[in-house]
Amino acid sequence: MSDQPRPACSPTLFSWEFAADPYPAYAWLREHEPVHRTTLPSGVEAWLVTRYADARAALADPRLSKNPAHHSEAAHAKGKVGIPGEHSADLVTHLLNIDPPDHTRLRRLVSKAFTPRRVAAFAPRVQELTDRLIDGFGSRGQADLIHEFAFPLPIYAICDLLGVPREDQDDFRDWAGMMIRHGGGPRGGVARAVKRIRAYLADLIHRKRESLGRGDGEQSVDLISGLIRASDHGEHLTENEAAAMAFILLFAGFETTVNLIGNGVYALLRDPVQCDRLRRSLKEGDEGLLATGVEELLRYDGPVEIATWRFATEPVVIGGQRVAVGDPVLVVLAAADRDPERFAAPDVLDLSRADNQHLGYGHGIHYCLGAPLARLEARTAIGTLLRRLPDLRLAVEPQEVRRRGGLIMRGLRELPVTWDP
Ligand code: HEM
Repeated sequence: MSDQPRPACSPTLFSWEFAADPYPAYAWLREHEPVHRTTLPSGVEAWLVTRYADARAALADPRLSKNPAHHSEAAHAKGKVGIPGEHSADLVTHLLNIDPPDHTRLRRLVSKAFTPRRVAAFAPRVQELTDRLIDGFGSRGQADLIHEFAFPLPIYAICDLLGVPREDQDDFRDWAGMMIRHGGGPRGGVARAVKRIRAYLADLIHRKRESLGRGDGEQSVDLISGLIRASDHGEHLTENEAAAMAFILLFAGFETTVNLIGNGVYALLRDPVQCDRLRRSLKEGDEGLLATGVEELLRYDGPVEIATWRFATEPVVIGGQRVAVGDPVLVVLAAADRDPERFAAPDVLDLSRADNQHLGYGHGIHYCLGAPLARLEARTAIGTLLRRLPDLRLAVEPQEVRRRGGLIMRGLRELPVTWDP
C-alpha cells in the first residue's frame, strides 16, 4: 500500500489510481505543499491540510466554521459540499454543521443521553449481532465481508441503540444501503432515502414522546427516549432537533463503522505477520493487542479520509499559507496520520504501537461523539471474526479488491474472503 514511490512532481488527486493508494501523493504534499489548493471533482476549490500539527490545529481552530453559510461560494456551491442532510432543510442543523454556542448546547444535551455507560451496557447485544451474522455464512467457506458483515452490523447496532423496533430494521438496512451506494449527494435515490428515514424518525420520536408523557415509557433505555428526556438547565431538545440528532447519529455512525471493519480486516489480511500476532494473542485470551490494534488500524487506513468541511470566517494562516475569508478548508486525516514528524515509521502497520494519538476520530469540539460505540463494534467484529474463522484469508489478489468512491469517506466496495469451514 505504501511501498509505492512518491510522485516526482505535484500528484494527480482524486483519480482511481489515487483512491487505490493515496498515501504516496499525500506524502508528496506533506513535504512540498503541506497546505495545497485544489479543485475538487465537484468543481469547488478548497485547501487541503496534510501535516499532523497543522491538521490538529485546524480541527480546533474557532476561526474555521462548520456552517456552510460561511462558504464564499455558498450560493453557487449549494448541493456541492456533500454534507449529509444539506438537501433536507429541516436536517441542516446538526452537530457537524453548526458552531458554538448552538453546537455547545446540542452537544451537551446529546452527551447526557449518549453516555459511555449506555454504550458499555450495549456490549452483549453487539456480540450477539456479530455472532448471528457470522452464523449466517460461517459454514459456507466464502463470503463478501462488506455485504454480509461490515455493512449490516453497524446499521442493526445503531437501530437497536436508538430504539427502532426490530420489525422495522430491515427497512433501515435498505435505506442505508441506498445512501451508501450513492454517496451523500443530493441525487434521486439518496434524497428519497433521506426523506423516508427523516419521516420515520419524526414519527418514532413523536410516539416515544407521547408514551413517555403518559408515563408508560419510564423504563425505556433506548437512546431516542434518552434524547427526549435529556435536559440541561431546564432546556430540552425540540422534536425537530431530536430527529436531526437521531439522523446524524445514524449517518455519522454507519458508513464510518462499515469502513473501519472493512479497511481494518483488509489491512490485517494483507499483513500475515501482524494478523497472526493478533490471532495468537486472542487465543491466549489477551484483548490488549486488539484494543491497540483497532486504534492502529484507524491511523493506518481509517474510514474518514478527510474531515468534514470547514470555512474560514476571517483570514487565517495555516502552515505558513494564507487562507482567505470564505475559503473551504479540508483537513486530510489520512495524510496527517501518516506524518513522519509525528509517528515513527508511519507507513508500517504496528498493532502494538504506543503513543498513537491519531486524528481518525477528529479533534476539538467536533471530536467523534460515537467513538466509544465505534471502538466497541470494531473490537467485537474483528476479534470475533479472527477467533471464529482462524484461517480467514483474501479470496482475490489484494489489488483486485474494489474501492468505493467519495471525497470524505474511504472504504471498500467488497471484500471477498475465504476460509476452511
Ligand atoms: C464526528 C470519525 C463512528 C457519531 C466525527 C468526526 C470524525 C469521526 C473524524 C469529526 C469530523 C469533523 O470534525 O469534521 C468516526 C469514525 C468512526 C465513527 C472513524 C468509526 C469508526 C461514529 C459512530 C457515531 C458517530 C458509531 C454514532 C453513533 C459522530 C457524531 C459526530 C462525529 C455525532 C459529530 C460530533 C460533533 O460535531 O460534535 N466522527 N466516527 N461516529 N461522529 Fe464519528
